Amino acid sequence: MATIPTLSNPAAAASAASIALIVPDSSRRASLARILGGLHLPVLRECPTYPESRYLEELMALDCDVFIVDLDTNVDQALGLIENICSRDAAATVMATSRSNDAGLLIRSMRAGAREFLPEPIVANTITEAVARALARREKSQQKNTVGKILMFAGAKGGSGVTTLATNFAIALTKEDAGKVLIVDMDLQMGEVALGLGFTPQFSILDALKNEERLDTDFLMTMLTRHISGLAVLASPEQYTSFHASASGVQKLFNILRHEFAFVVVDAGTTTCGAEETLLDLADTVYLVTEVSIPALRNARRLMSFMAGRDRNPHVEVILNRFNARQIEIDENSATKALARPVDWKIPNDFPSVRTAENTGVPLALKDSPISRVMHKMAVKAAGKPALAEKRSLTLRGLFSMNGQLECADAKRS
Ligand SMILES: Nc1ncnc2c1ncn2[C@@H]1O[C@H](COP(=O)(O)OP(=O)(O)OP(=O)(O)O)[C@@H](O)[C@H]1O
Ligand SMILES: [Mg+2]
Repeated sequence: MATIPTLSNPAAAASAASIALIVPDSSRRASLARILGGLHLPVLRECPTYPESRYLEELMALDCDVFIVDLDTNVDQALGLIENICSRDAAATVMATSRSNDAGLLIRSMRAGAREFLPEPIVANTITEAVARALARREKSQQKNTVGKILMFAGAKGGSGVTTLATNFAIALTKEDAGKVLIVDMDLQMGEVALGLGFTPQFSILDALKNEERLDTDFLMTMLTRHISGLAVLASPEQYTSFHASASGVQKLFNILRHEFAFVVVDAGTTTCGAEETLLDLADTVYLVTEVSIPALRNARRLMSFMAGRDRNPHVEVILNRFNARQIEIDENSATKALARPVDWKIPNDFPSVRTAENTGVPLALKDSPISRVMHKMAVKAAGKPALAEKRSLTLRGLFSMNGQLECADAKRS
């Protein structure tokens, strides 16, 4: 992502800008073009009249960063043009110019949408600084338009480990410093994200969804809790509820959140108060959590065919939770066959670490463990960073714990 041009060096910042010059007076136009040329600012179009209809369309198609509009030839026409440009391209900056330094004219041009007023005499420094501000504004509005990713964790069966994995993945992703991360607990009835993170929420997603018409960024931000890791949390309610979320409420909620956070991780559990389809429409990636059992694998396959049959299907990654390489009834090959696709992630069965995390309120991802190492790899991938080379321990113990077959062989020998 490009950086915001810094005003500490406006000349360097401004050099990337493209400009349209709309100045009917030819000598004034020539003098402005000279100043801009001296600053090496590319003028994409010089207009000898205030452009209308087809000419205005052509001008806007050039996608200039800055429009310099002189007011003097016809003030009303010039102000109408400024309004027109601003309504078509909110990120562009219009600079009004006039030989008159009349305050009333300045106010009228600002009301029409001009961001800058270049007073007489126009000097190079004034233009450089105004253009640098224009570029900073454009950059900011482009950043606002980039939306975060919705990463949805769903279970093939109740108790598959969705909450454990979604929460720890979200913390691992926060640690990657790839942008702000939020976890949303969509298990309205029995959500446990806040519990796992060791706090009792003051507000919950229910307060947000029950007030759909009031939902906006400011309101929603007051509903969030921040975990010590930096992860923001939109928790589920403490009390059991029979509330059914409306599709429009869920859509509105996530549209606001994805403009505020680079990653919105969702604990979608197995049932999500009737919002499953809406969430699938919004999700960029679905992490499907399943255990290595016939019923769970069967459900996972059903869910995948359901998703594949929809108009919009998100990227799916399959997670085998509580995976034990020593398990002989259903090994990874059989799981792959049952799912009709390869498995993306295998999370070891590590009851002691999980139990310690639950009892202490210190999430797994904040400590080193076999589970947190996989979480870290998943987070690196989701953050769009290159995968780290596998660190191979030279100790026999490390070697054995990395390779299930060796572990098995070892067990048989002893
Ligand atoms: N890899 C693992 N190793 C050992 N225990 C695990 C593992 N993953 C999850 N667990 C344990 O399994 C239980 C269920 O996990 P969790 O609550 O995360 O599942 P869930 O899919 O969110 O369940 P629910 O359907 O009730 O929402 C918890 O006690 C959790 O600590
Ligand atoms: Mg859960």
